[in-house]
Amino acid sequence: MANELRVGIVGAHRGSSYMAPFSAIAETEVTAFCDINEETLQSVAERFNVPQQFTDYEAMLDAVDLVVLATPENLHVPQSIAALEAGKHVISEVTAAVNLEECYDLVRAVRKSSAKYTMAENTCYSKANVLIRNMVDSGMFGDVYFGEGEYLHNVKSLHHDASGNPTWRYYWQVGINRCNYATHSLGPVLQWFGGRVASVCCLGTGVHTDPEHAMEDTVMMLCKTDCGGLIKIRIDMLSNRPANSYFSLQGTKGCYEGSRGLGAAPKIWLDEFSVTEQWRPLSQFEDCLPERWQNPPAEAESVGDLGEYFKVRDFVDSILTDTTPPIDVYTAMDFTVPGLVSEQSIANGGAPIEVPDFREIDF
Ligand SMILES: NC(=O)c1ccc[n+]([C@@H]2O[C@H](COP(=O)([O-])OP(=O)(O)OC[C@H]3O[C@@H](n4cnc5c(N)ncnc54)[C@H](O)[C@@H]3O)[C@@H](O)[C@H]2O)c1
Repeated sequence: MANELRVGIVGAHRGSSYMAPFSAIAETEVTAFCDINEETLQSVAERFNVPQQFTDYEAMLDAVDLVVLATPENLHVPQSIAALEAGKHVISEVTAAVNLEECYDLVRAVRKSSAKYTMAENTCYSKANVLIRNMVDSGMFGDVYFGEGEYLHNVKSLHHDASGNPTWRYYWQVGINRCNYATHSLGPVLQWFGGRVASVCCLGTGVHTDPEHAMEDTVMMLCKTDCGGLIKIRIDMLSNRPANSYFSLQGTKGCYEGSRGLGAAPKIWLDEFSVTEQWRPLSQFEDCLPERWQNPPAEAESVGDLGEYFKVRDFVDSILTDTTPPIDVYTAMDFTVPGLVSEQSIANGGAPIEVPDFREIDF
C-alpha cells in the first residue's frame, strides 16, 4: 500500500512484541528497527525481516512516520520530544516520564507538534480490565468508590546485566523511593473511575530484601480521586515471592475481585443476585465485553493477544482519522504523575501531595 505508515521500533526486547499487531494492520508496515546493541539489532531485524536497521535513533527518524519507544524509561521523554519535533507520531512504552520536569517538557512538545502521542498502557487493554470497564460504563456496579491495583513482580535479576553492571531498572524502577512503575496498576482502575487522581499519600514497608536500593520493598500509594473515590496501589519489584497483578473494584451495586493466583477465578458480586448467592466467576460475564472483543476484525486473527492489537489499532485509527488517541498525553500524565509525586509524600511520612492536572497548565 503506497500510503502506509512506516513504523520504526526502538528497543529490540519489548519492541518485538509490537511486530504482530503492526503486521496485522493493513495501513502500517514496520520498516525499521533501532537498538544501540548491534548484535541484538541484527538478530531481531533478521527474525522479523525488517529492511532497515539503525543504531542511531535520530538517524532513524527521517525514515519513518511513527516510532515505538520500547527503550529504558529515562529515554522516553527525550526520544518522544525528538520525534514530535520531527513530526513523527509516538507510541511510548510505560511510564511516560521519570520526573515532573520531563512531564512539562513532554506536554509542551505534544501541544506544539502536528504529530500524535500515546502511552502504551497495555493493562487498560487486558480482556478482564476491558470487561470490567464496560460493566462500569453500563452502570452494573452503580457508583464506583474504591479500587485496588497491585503489581508484584520480583525483577531483581534484571537490575544488573550479564557483566554485573546496573541496568536502567536499577536507577529508575527501584533506585528512587516512590511508587515507581505504577501505570499498569493505576491506569485501568482510573479508567473505571472515570476521573483523575487529585492527591496521593504514600508509605513503604522499609527496605528488607535488597538493601542497596532506595525503593522500599513494598510501596503503597493511596490515591484520592477528583470525584472523592479512593484507589489503593501496591507496587513491589523486590520481595521474594511469585508475581501477581491484582485488581479490585467496589461500587454501590456490586464489586469485583481479580485473581490472587493458584487457580483462583476472578469474581463478581452484583446486588441483583439472589440473596443467597455469593460470587460468580468473571468468565460468566463475557457477553458484557465490547462488541469488537466478541467479534474481532479478521485482521486481528493473526495477533495472539487481542489487547495488544486493539492498543495499536486505536492509535493508528487516531492518526488516520485525526482524532484524539484513547490514551493521549493528558491521560498518560494522569497515569504517570501520581507515582512521580508520591516521592514527596513518602519522604514526608505519607503527607498528602497534590497531583497537577496538565490540561490546565499554561506554558
Ligand atoms: N507494557 C509492558 O508490559 C512492558 C513490559 C516490559 C517492558 N516494558 C517497557 O518497555 C521498555 C523496555 O523494557 P525492556 O524490558 O525491553 O528493557 P531492556 O533493557 O531489556 O531493553 C531495552 C533495549 O533498549 C536498547 N536501548 C537502550 N538505549 C537505547 C537507545 N538510546 N537507542 C536505541 N536503543 C536503546 C537496549 O540496547 C535494549 O536492547 C521500558 O520502558 C519498560 O518499562 C513494558
